[in-house]
Amino acid sequence: MSAHRNAPPRNAAAVPAATPAAVPAHVAIIMDGNGRWAQQRGLPRLEGHRRGSRTVRAITTAAFELGVRYLTLYAFSAENWNRPRDEVGGLMRLLEIFLRRELATLRKNQIRLLTIGRSDALPAPVRRQLAATIAATAAHTRGTLVLALNYGSRDEIADAANAYAAAVAAGREPPGGCTWETFARYLHTAAIPDPDLVIRTSGESRVSNFLLMQSAYAEFIFTPVLWPDFTKENLAAALETYARRERRFGLTSEQMKEKLEIRN
Ligand code: FPP
Repeated sequence: MSAHRNAPPRNAAAVPAATPAAVPAHVAIIMDGNGRWAQQRGLPRLEGHRRGSRTVRAITTAAFELGVRYLTLYAFSAENWNRPRDEVGGLMRLLEIFLRRELATLRKNQIRLLTIGRSDALPAPVRRQLAATIAATAAHTRGTLVLALNYGSRDEIADAANAYAAAVAAGREPPGGCTWETFARYLHTAAIPDPDLVIRTSGESRVSNFLLMQSAYAEFIFTPVLWPDFTKENLAAALETYARRERRFGLTSEQMKEKLEIRN
């Protein structure tokens, strides 16, 4: 038996404190395939995004109905600025319209809105709409919708490193005391638990700079369905697949079962 056999896992916080729920608390989605959906129909790419935006509304409602507590949607990556000007402008307008229209539903369903990403670089009308929706939904407690906007994991880590270094320099953090748990408090996701399940639509099997650190122990599901075609049934099927998986957080299957039996 090796000396460290019974040592607690180094990243003990990653192991859930209770039975992993059959329904993932946090689902994060890389919404992909809007362009191909449009292309297949001979439509402009923006039409694909428009249909994708409808799917955003449907899946937001569906996820919370299915018992998900946090839903993070990768709506605009830091790299998406490099797309054609018209497409970027169109996406920003869709976002603004979505925020305006969705407020009533967020109110009705008691869902609060948060964002991750460098949202200060978004156009002023989007920023205003975001600020208004975030403020209007701040007290809602049934669930949290997180929009990743101008988000990139590497930017986020750089932002956190700068904020952490500034905190050390100002004496708010002890020098040399950095642990993952301390550092995570400086990430854009500080107020959000790690995702349990990451879904990517459209048949691509990439992570594309999305929640790289936070998804360290997440389950991944890649589906061929293009985002505009993704339905509540597709989401429910992904949740069923998730429920059948065994999450081990670096432990053996036996250790995990023992841990869960003790806690129940
Ligand atoms: C990827 O499809 C999708 C995006 C880059 C943006 C996602 C945006 C929406 C779903 C609509 C607007 C968002 C909200 C929150 C209202 P793609 O264009 O890369 O598809 P492709 O790979 O088939 O070209």
